[in-house]
Amino acid sequence: MRLLKFTFLFLISSIMVYSCKKEKPIKDLENRDPIPFNFIIPAGMPPMFIPADNPLTVEGVALGRKLFYDPVLSANNTLSCAGCHRQNFAFADSTLQFSVGITGATGTRNAPALFNLGWEKKFFWDGGAATLEDQVIGPITNPIEMHDTLTKVIAKLQKHSLYPPMFKKAFGSDSITTKLIMKAIAQFERTLISANSKYDEYKQGKIKLDEQEWNGMQLFIGEKGDCNHCHVLGSTFTDFEFRNNGLDSVFADEGRYRITLNPDDMGKFKTPTLRNIALTAPYMHDGRFKTLKEVINFYNSDFHLTATLDPNIALQKRGRLNPIEINDLIAFLNTLTDKDFVSNVNFSKP
Ligand code: HEC
Ligand code: HEC
Repeated sequence: MRLLKFTFLFLISSIMVYSCKKEKPIKDLENRDPIPFNFIIPAGMPPMFIPADNPLTVEGVALGRKLFYDPVLSANNTLSCAGCHRQNFAFADSTLQFSVGITGATGTRNAPALFNLGWEKKFFWDGGAATLEDQVIGPITNPIEMHDTLTKVIAKLQKHSLYPPMFKKAFGSDSITTKLIMKAIAQFERTLISANSKYDEYKQGKIKLDEQEWNGMQLFIGEKGDCNHCHVLGSTFTDFEFRNNGLDSVFADEGRYRITLNPDDMGKFKTPTLRNIALTAPYMHDGRFKTLKEVINFYNSDFHLTATLDPNIALQKRGRLNPIEINDLIAFLNTLTDKDFVSNVNFSKP
């Protein structure tokens, strides 16, 4: 059944190529329409939802990329989005447990990796932002992050020599607004696609997994390892749901509950993707685990039983995985690293 579904997804995504056919005679380079971004969904990934009012364009993506790397978005012009989301760590924040904002303050959540965001349904660990566009405001105005105000950011961009013409090219207006900043950054973020790991090559029949990796994959999908219920094998490696995976008996961070105030959501967090997981340590919403071994030891024996614990985890026997199996699982997780993604020059500082 699962295999069938993958084959189907493979077929539709292979024909989903957004092409740029709309051509007009170019009279005036300054005033021409933005060029649709030639966006190819890799084989094996589902179709991506792109909001009708923010189609990707070459100029919009270029502007979003420039903004993402520009510390001008922070109050003292020292910290860009990329200051906490670094490409060589799949856009997570180096090995820091908590990122450092412009005042030196730190938060209580670990900076997540940024890729395949076009498939996510909600943003932040607790899903507090409903769209990728909405998410952009959070870090810019957050006092422990970039600590700026939108009015000041807009004033800085408006009198910058490069930005007004870039906004004009991307959106037809050089009058900079919060909405346009949100749109541009979201466009760039949607281009951050990662689906070219060893696992993907294996899935496409190009290579074989070695014995240890193969065994790890069987554990991953089987009842014994039981990772697949939430970190669904195949394309995005997440179910996009909020779950309590058993980290705590008392919740220092209430997670999804903070947003919904529904007691059933106590201690639930967004299931993160496991793609590029070898690059994004430390792990969990609060970065409490330094290594994948610590993560698997936790799932193997240290989970806490609480009212909202996911039923799949509550059913598990403690100590079910032996040390060889733990290493097999890690070997499989290591096949999810996409080296092309972290070295792709289209995503680096422009
Ligand atoms: C000071 C460090 C810091 C800076 C600067 C920063 N971020 Fe983040 N980012 C974080 C942290 C920490 C989280 C997790 C917060 C949470 O979930 O509550 C996060 C979460 C996100 C998410 C959610 C990802 C997901 O899977 O839900 C996105 C998208 C994102 N940041 C994009 C940006 C953009 C765009 C900028 C620049 C405008 C930016 N970040 C600036 C630290 C930072
Ligand atoms: C019931 C759903 C569920 C199951 C089953 C599950 N996970 Fe998770 N996993 C989650 C959630 C939710 C988080 C985030 C929890 C948090 O940070 O509070 C998570 C976090 C992780 C992280 C940290 C990711 C990061 O970016 O910090 C890793 C690694 C991980 N899981 C691996 C596994 C492995 C390996 C298995 C199988 C042994 C597994 N998970 C089983 C739901 C699950």
